[in-house]
Amino acid sequence: MEMKRRPTTNSRNAVQRYAHICGWGTSVPERVLTNHELARMVDTNDEWIVARTGISQRYIANGRETTASLGTAAAREALDIADVTPDDIDLIIVATSTPEHHFPSTASLVQDALGARNAGAFDMLAACTGFVYALSIAAQAIQAGAMNTVLVIGAETLSKIVNWEDRGTCVLFGDGAGAVVLQGSDSPGGVLASLLRSDGSGGDLLKVPAGGSAMPASYETLRDNLHTIHMNGREVFRFATRVMADACRDVVAAAGLTMDDVDVIVPHQANKRIIEAAARGLRLPIDRFAINLDRYGNTSTASIPIALCEAVSEGRIRPNDNLVLVAFGGGLTWGATVVTWDVTPKATVTGLHKMRRQALYSVARMRSIVRRGARAIEGTIWGAQAPDGIEPPHREKD
Ligand code: ACO
Repeated sequence: MEMKRRPTTNSRNAVQRYAHICGWGTSVPERVLTNHELARMVDTNDEWIVARTGISQRYIANGRETTASLGTAAAREALDIADVTPDDIDLIIVATSTPEHHFPSTASLVQDALGARNAGAFDMLAACTGFVYALSIAAQAIQAGAMNTVLVIGAETLSKIVNWEDRGTCVLFGDGAGAVVLQGSDSPGGVLASLLRSDGSGGDLLKVPAGGSAMPASYETLRDNLHTIHMNGREVFRFATRVMADACRDVVAAAGLTMDDVDVIVPHQANKRIIEAAARGLRLPIDRFAINLDRYGNTSTASIPIALCEAVSEGRIRPNDNLVLVAFGGGLTWGATVVTWDVTPKATVTGLHKMRRQALYSVARMRSIVRRGARAIEGTIWGAQAPDGIEPPHREKD
């Protein structure tokens, strides 16, 4: 028997929600590492690196600069521009391949540092495609009406998992973070469409073999440098040039646009030759692409938000521009998103608002310290006593 499809109560009353980017920010470490300095560390030279990759320098974290601290700094900048307080945030997603720990998530550390008391938090692992994945998930949560304000961060300290003796990889990567604030609105625009893809059969082409459950840390894994990035550069290059143009075309069509409607493409910043190949594949001039990898190297999940922020601050991205963000990476994964940049920074954001947020961050720090202290005291008082009067199992005496 054929069932009649009826509108549900929700769909009859539902108001279409749109997810708009309303804040953006970046943070990079202080230390710059140039190609010339690298040439003193491994058998390479500036000419080779520039000609084969387009990279001239990258930023490298010191002991105090971590994935969470860079991500938090980028997030604070984005919250300032959006004029959003930490209490307004419903969800924090940190896309990263270099989390501070397996757990707790880096997102939870950022949540604590910001004092975002009403937010859920989780990390997203999709290698260099992570930011596009996270943006898409965040937008869908807002469009579905489940969330209103989501903070999406791409943050990396890849320098900590690079083999500094492997010239095939150590010249490519850099550290940094970028963040955007997404908010729900009834006015059309913002994130229009996304495409997320994976081909796990290519997982071996780009991986950190050890340190997970497949190969836990051991003396041998440390000796053999298995906690660092291992990559088949040529194969990753071939894969990237194949998927970038197709992903752009498909996601633009899904958004109901044509490539002529696209003002700026913000690609993952891995290799200038890969971006040039994508431009050729799309028959677009290279100046349609936002490129800054010469100064940052490949910062994985941070590369798109950093390039996006730079393009905005340089005036390359203007209100009502249509953007495509497109990435590829380990997994293998790839993905693309179309965004209408229908934002102008809020004129109402004053120094006073920023000072208020600074004060909230200080309160958050104090609250976190007090919570840790209270937990320690509680643990001491209730130490041996299990909850609900259930006694912990006694150890057999020898
Ligand atoms: N300096 C000097 N010579 C080098 C260096 C170096 N740093 N690295 C490699 N070479 C040599 C090689 O040994 C080789 O020498 P040989 O011909 O004597 O054997 C020669 O240069 C050419 O090597 P190729 O690997 O063929 O060089 P290619 O032009 O492919 O460039 C590169 C290598 C830059 C790694 C390129 O393949 C690439 O960018 N691949 C994509 C990598 C990428 O994007 N990875 C990130 C993915 S995102 C993520 O998820 C993290």
